[in-house]
Amino acid sequence: MTKYQIRGGNPLHGEIEISGAKNAAVAIIPAALMVEGVCRIENVPQISDVTLILQILRELGANVRMVNRSTMDVDCSHIMNRRVPYDLARRIRASYYLVGALLGRFGWAEVPLPGGCDLGGRPVDQHIKGFVTMGAEVEVRNGLICARVPDGRLSGGQIYLDMVSVGATMNIMLAGTLAHGMTVIENAAKEPHIVDLANFLNSMGANIMGAGTDVIKIRGVDHLRGGTYSIIPDQIEAGTYMTAVASAGGEVLIRNVIPKHLDCISAKLIEMGVDIEEHDDAVLVRRYGPLNRVNVKTMPYPGFPTDMQPQIAAVLCQARGTSVLTEGVWENRYRYVDEFRRMGAHIQVDGKVAVIEGTRFLTGAPLHACDLRAGAAMVVAGLSAQGVTIIDGIHHIERGYEMLVEKLAAVGADIRIINTPDEDSQSQVG
Ligand code: EPZ
Repeated sequence: MTKYQIRGGNPLHGEIEISGAKNAAVAIIPAALMVEGVCRIENVPQISDVTLILQILRELGANVRMVNRSTMDVDCSHIMNRRVPYDLARRIRASYYLVGALLGRFGWAEVPLPGGCDLGGRPVDQHIKGFVTMGAEVEVRNGLICARVPDGRLSGGQIYLDMVSVGATMNIMLAGTLAHGMTVIENAAKEPHIVDLANFLNSMGANIMGAGTDVIKIRGVDHLRGGTYSIIPDQIEAGTYMTAVASAGGEVLIRNVIPKHLDCISAKLIEMGVDIEEHDDAVLVRRYGPLNRVNVKTMPYPGFPTDMQPQIAAVLCQARGTSVLTEGVWENRYRYVDEFRRMGAHIQVDGKVAVIEGTRFLTGAPLHACDLRAGAAMVVAGLSAQGVTIIDGIHHIERGYEMLVEKLAAVGADIRIINTPDEDSQSQVG
């Protein structure tokens, strides 16, 4: 079994380069399905979620060619197979974008209900409401979302989302791109990856207005053509390394970022006593003194991102005083708390609220990464803990972080990948 081993206590010094955004890449790559021609996509992160979505596209008949480590040509001109492989699709949340893309291009889609991190209920009713408003017949049967448009082409419609949903906003945007007429999404999500998907589609010939506000208008076009597009830097990867510096101490220049996207994270770290200096496409993060307590509530963008909630919790465990953390997006995103308690953290959870009483230091322990961001938070905690932290379940972390061990080791963290016999883990089962 492959694990991360971290010997805590080294402050971090140097530079970290941020990769392309996972949650943009996993929508933009399926969006290439709607393009007749070659899409050159740059700044693609090398993470396992991207590998999976590419594997699905190849199974459908796409021609994918790596140009270099982070650039690829995707040609979906000759898609023959429209049945998405069950085993691949259910391993990843973003496979739901294939519904919008296939329905938009072919008027027909059968896609397995998606998988992804276990954060409580993850319904797709708002996606389905959007497709139905646009004239599709949709039913869920045998584990599949089966959607078809009787006359072959979706028609625009007005869709009000009952809650701000990133996935539903992107999926309806995909479906509306090749629909007949105008689609309007009200109460749309405003995350940076929503704007990135709209920019990608527009650069291929779509006509999408208002992405980044809560009303998005999509005037359907007949075709998309090939082109070149570069994915934005990953807001959450950058935020995770910002919390790593806050946790371990030191001074790190985090490069290839859009500082504006990080404002919601910087604001809280500054309140905690972390020094953050904004450059054009980098942020310098410094922490030498003690950390102050703060209250944090996660919200849709531009609020504090839920995908940074476990990482900020790791830092708050070491702050002076008591912090209140409120999860405003997911039903159950505190599954990591028991693992933090193994490190000596004092956390009480009641529903969506966690009360964290800071301790002077955490201690290293064997931990299990239960999901992607929880695993990243365990790394953040391990960097400052006294002694050795061993994290298993790292395949979750590798879904969303490119070369995490290499990037942290290069700034002085004592972190490595170790292999241990499988029976080690068996004593933890039960
Ligand atoms: C995306 O998930 C991200 N995943 C998540 O990141 C992120 O936590 C989330 O957005 C919120 O920012 C990807 O982009 C692949 P939502 P998504 O639809 O789109 C409810 C990570 O760690 N809802 O915005 O699935 C839902 O239950 C991952 O990178 C409905 O009720 O999230 C939740 O409470 C984890 N019905 C809220 O809305 C629906 O039809 C927001 O979910 C859709 C959503």
